[in-house]
Amino acid sequence: METMSNSIRVQRTSQSRLKEIDFSNLAFGQHIADHMIVAEYADGKWGEASVLPYGEMTMSPAILSLHYGQAIFEGMKAYKTSSGVITIFRLKRHHERMNRSLERMCMPPIPYNLFEQSLTTLIDVDRDWIPTSEGASLYIRPVVFASEARLGVKVSDQYKFVIMTSPVGPYYSKPLRVKVEETYVRAAEGGAGFAKCAGNYGVSFYPTQMARKEGFDQVLWTDAKEHKYIDEAGTMNVMFVIDGKLVTPRLTTAILDGITRDSILTLAKEMDIVVEERKVSVEELIETHKQGSLTEAFGAGTAAIVAPIATINIHGKDYTLPPTSEGSIQARVKKKLTNMRLGLEKDNHEWNFTL
Ligand code: COI
Repeated sequence: METMSNSIRVQRTSQSRLKEIDFSNLAFGQHIADHMIVAEYADGKWGEASVLPYGEMTMSPAILSLHYGQAIFEGMKAYKTSSGVITIFRLKRHHERMNRSLERMCMPPIPYNLFEQSLTTLIDVDRDWIPTSEGASLYIRPVVFASEARLGVKVSDQYKFVIMTSPVGPYYSKPLRVKVEETYVRAAEGGAGFAKCAGNYGVSFYPTQMARKEGFDQVLWTDAKEHKYIDEAGTMNVMFVIDGKLVTPRLTTAILDGITRDSILTLAKEMDIVVEERKVSVEELIETHKQGSLTEAFGAGTAAIVAPIATINIHGKDYTLPPTSEGSIQARVKKKLTNMRLGLEKDNHEWNFTL
């Protein structure tokens, strides 16, 4: 066991799995890197984090997260830039969002230093797991869950903070065919849709599975009250190009405050693209498609970055969009974002946290 200068203990694996990985074929989340961070919360405070070999953890089936859902996670990415420097994208913003999710689920916040030191130590230990091929990165998955073993319905007094990483390639291989969902909802205003809590993903599986049986890749979630306005696309935020403007649903308590969403909107404004954050109705999509002014639709998220949408099915009818070209808004903002992450373009916002 070695101790890093920042007091994080590191226990390295004696059997790295790195050589077993086919880096030319990286299905999302299939391979988890050699090490993980583990920290525990008890007696009202977070203890020190350790880097351990990635592996199983022994836990009681009575831990409260399994029963009452106190579990949240983040999704982030690390890159090796063109000059070989390792960066983590928007670390501070992910930390802030994680603490917002924790607060919503009555879970204790993670102190910034614990988050930063854990992440940087882990990424440093597993630096050889960062892929460098086009569209690839090291996906980082911090998760916090209630670990007190008790059946009574209560807020847990014990938690675990774990970070795992996984080398990933492009998320979707082709443009998506999506369906406007008018029966099920992902989240209602006043609920926890803005938080990255496990339950938001669990509830989406059934409607998504139904949509897949009907031949769709994903659903476009609509508002819980009237199914009249678009909220999100599958596990991503959603954006449209209407009349040459980049239009996206304004944030509500039912919508995840996506960090890729924010990055794209910020860069688009700097590229002199007009950005509108507002309600986007299903009717507007039908009307603007009819007029020919709806020219693009895409999902935006950490995992996929930009996921082009080829077809939107509304009330059973397909609305097909033109194929995306290099000059499209989604291709231009994606390129700008990717280049910035790889150090090929100036990082004016200091979004790249350098190791
Ligand atoms: C992300 O885009 O980071 C997500 O959270 C989607 C997913 C892999 C759960």
